[in-house]
Amino acid sequence: MRTSLLIAAIFIAASGAGRAETPRDFLTRFEKEAGTAASAERGARFFTARHGGEWSCASCHTERPTQAGRHAKTDKPISALAPSANGERFTDAAKVDKWFRRNCNDTMNRACTAQEKADVIAWLLSFK
Ligand code: HEC
Repeated sequence: MRTSLLIAAIFIAASGAGRAETPRDFLTRFEKEAGTAASAERGARFFTARHGGEWSCASCHTERPTQAGRHAKTDKPISALAPSANGERFTDAAKVDKWFRRNCNDTMNRACTAQEKADVIAWLLSFK
């Protein structure tokens, strides 16, 4: 009985299940996927520019990601995106993946590349 509990504990620890992720973990992951270092400056440009569509990321999240935003269509408040202003940001892979997928599609009609995601996170982390 005790042995199987121990084995289960080791298994859970090894698989990382239930471990909270940090914004740095996501930054490292996307940098690795992109095969290049992130640039906060590129992230700022990406975030505030329109990409052929009606919206930029800043249309809903504002250009000051330490402040709360508002949904460009529904006007619903959106809490700040910078981790320094909102400790829940970039701690949940399901949420990060879901919203990158949806928001990138809404603004550019395509998925964001790993490099774009890394750049955005690097920029967001530059806000203290
Ligand atoms: C039309 C409005 C809108 C636009 C445009 C938009 N977002 Fe969002 N975004 C949201 C909403 C709504 C949420 C989910 C609510 C929340 O998390 O507060 C969200 C959540 C996120 C999250 C979740 C982060 C986390 O861990 O909680 C990320 C990352 C994100 N957006 C990035 C972007 C990027 C990058 C762009 C530009 C490519 C963008 N968004 C454009 C509305 C928008």
